[in-house]
Amino acid sequence: MALWGGRFSQESSALFKLFNDSLPVDYRLIEQDIVGSIAWASAITQVGVLTTEECTQLHAALNELLAETSENPELIIASGAEDIHSFVEQSLIAKVGDLGKKLHTGRSRNDQVATDLKLWCKKEGQEQLELLAKLRTALIKLAEREIDAVMPGYTHLQRAQPVLFGHWCLAYVEMFERDISRLEDALKRADTCPLGTGALAGTAYPMDRVKLAQSLGFAAPTLNSLDTVSDRDHVVEICSDASISMMHLSRMAEDLIFFNSGEAGFIELDDEVTSGSSLMPQKKNPDALELIRGKTGRVYGSLIGILTTMKALPLAYNKDMQEDKEGLFDVMDSWAICLEMAALVLNGLQVNRERTLVAAQQGYANSTELADYLVAKGMPFREAHHVVGEAVVVAIAKQTPLEDLPLEELQSFSAIIEADVYECLTIESCLAKREALGGTSLPQVKSALAGKKANN
Ligand code: ARG
Repeated sequence: MALWGGRFSQESSALFKLFNDSLPVDYRLIEQDIVGSIAWASAITQVGVLTTEECTQLHAALNELLAETSENPELIIASGAEDIHSFVEQSLIAKVGDLGKKLHTGRSRNDQVATDLKLWCKKEGQEQLELLAKLRTALIKLAEREIDAVMPGYTHLQRAQPVLFGHWCLAYVEMFERDISRLEDALKRADTCPLGTGALAGTAYPMDRVKLAQSLGFAAPTLNSLDTVSDRDHVVEICSDASISMMHLSRMAEDLIFFNSGEAGFIELDDEVTSGSSLMPQKKNPDALELIRGKTGRVYGSLIGILTTMKALPLAYNKDMQEDKEGLFDVMDSWAICLEMAALVLNGLQVNRERTLVAAQQGYANSTELADYLVAKGMPFREAHHVVGEAVVVAIAKQTPLEDLPLEELQSFSAIIEADVYECLTIESCLAKREALGGTSLPQVKSALAGKKANN
């Protein structure tokens, strides 16, 4: 039975019920709805709506319902209730009779759903932070294990300058640290309690909303009833933070898919996270990484979905807002499993150091070094850049790396080149020079890693 039958003389059509009911989605708020109802029972007791005895009875019945539904979650959907709030109220009435009908005094499903959802965001947000921290740890471990493997760094997907594999890992650590800080920040703003703002105008019972907020673990109550029941900024923010984080996950996946390709052969992925082809026996496909990249799309989709749902809503609550949950739940599920999967992929990843080193040596990745060498000998950088460009053209024609050109040949591009040039063209020298803060020299990467480990 619906919560609102009195004004109606006709039943809802079956199609309307199917269209309007949100239980198949919001059943996930069961725990929050019950916890919120327990706090509400106490709050209305304090303003004289319930006796202490009645409150105790309601608390017991609500706790009993929580235990029953966590044991048999299928009870919820099977009830056919309109939404999770109706389910809880219905079940309560079935347990304690007319007393159950008193619980909704002074409360609306509008402040109720807003409270449930914020409680859910806070809880799931904490779990998401833990998964982000685990992924960060996996990257730090990999950085430590492979710190000095040399690989080509790319711009435009062309070999640019050599970098250490540890440096690559720590680049993603920076990204996931920003994701952690963004989510923490969003959760701070979500930490205000809507309960006690009623349908839109505030509740007519003089309750202590500060105390109520505290009893539910919120930092403070919300301050404006109209805003409270129509605010879904926390959903937008979390979807946005998830989208940014998925973008990082997807870029990392893309890097690794490329490193794993037959063409690059830089890494080997564990059997645990790859799959074979039904036709081609030689294949070992990076499915886990491709799915991380692929799921990014649906997370972005949910962000655009909630932004679009909210954009033209007049104050205060509108049923459009019921559409907030499906996307958010999917975002949190997708983001969580991608974070876990990424950590698993990293834990089992092997770097093929010979291949990465050979690749780093190819592609004229030491051209900048030659230019810097000329600069050190007094040539202006722009001129040096030009001279090296000419040398690279000749080297490419001869299919030889710069360091294999004989001295006389190098001197034909600039007479200031001397025998000491070869030393600066080595890969060790390329790396060692990147010693300013944030660079890829081994001491820099080691100190960056030490900093990350200290904050782990
Ligand atoms: N199922 C609804 C939702 O998720 C609960 C709020 C219903 N409020 C109302 N005035 N119809 O938004």
